[in-house]
Amino acid sequence: MEHIVVLTGAGMSAESGIATFRDSGGMWEQYRVEEVATPEGFARNPQLVLDFYNARRKAAFDAKPNKGHIGLAEMEKDYKISIITQNVDNLHERAGSTNVVHLHGELDKVRSTADPSLIYTLTPDNCEIRLGDKCEKGSQLRPHIVWFGEAVPMIEEAVDIVRTADILVVIGTSLNVYPAAGLLNYVKSGTPIFLIDPNEVKSYRDDIHFIKKGASEGVEELRRLLN
Ligand code: APR
Repeated sequence: MEHIVVLTGAGMSAESGIATFRDSGGMWEQYRVEEVATPEGFARNPQLVLDFYNARRKAAFDAKPNKGHIGLAEMEKDYKISIITQNVDNLHERAGSTNVVHLHGELDKVRSTADPSLIYTLTPDNCEIRLGDKCEKGSQLRPHIVWFGEAVPMIEEAVDIVRTADILVVIGTSLNVYPAAGLLNYVKSGTPIFLIDPNEVKSYRDDIHFIKKGASEGVEELRRLLN
């Protein structure tokens, strides 16, 4: 079975109603990265950061997988599919994908600020954390999110997965954020690369087959092309 590795970004979930980061009207026009997505921001104003992620978590729980997520899940019938996502929502899993690596963390999880191995899963009915919510060892809980300036613990696993790709598909990422954007470097030479995005994406590679469509239509087109 051919191994298709899919690298996804915020555009994958745009058609589910979750805002991207760098498009016009995107998240980083409304919030300052340094305030809500860095360890320094959390140290300065933890309430603001918890509120920000509580709102993101609620939006993610309320959202539904779109045809793109569902199409990728269906492709597991014909291919070995590995998804490496920069997204912190769980829409790939809810669509039925069984092999998903989250590079930048997961919104539905929170962890201890003192012991990163103490991770807890929230539910839609109980999806907020507040100042004073503590782990079993008595330390404040924080979002299980990789903030700017923090290490990306899953990157090595992601590199190993990309190295074994027969086909690489990139969907809905502006390829601005490293190390995720650098994963394209690790495909074996000659591996076909497809990129699905309705907008131009600047990439340092010129061997990419560009499908200039949104995620839902783009995945449909990809399936036609691979058939
Ligand atoms: N379908 C597919 N792609 C889309 C769609 C759509 N319907 N709508 C927009 N896009 C594309 C945009 O054209 C853009 O190229 O999605 C991309 C989104 O880019 P970013 O907002 O930069 O998101 P992403 O690349 O995932 O950001 C990486 O930055 O702030 C962080 O941690 C956050 O994981 C995130 C990382």
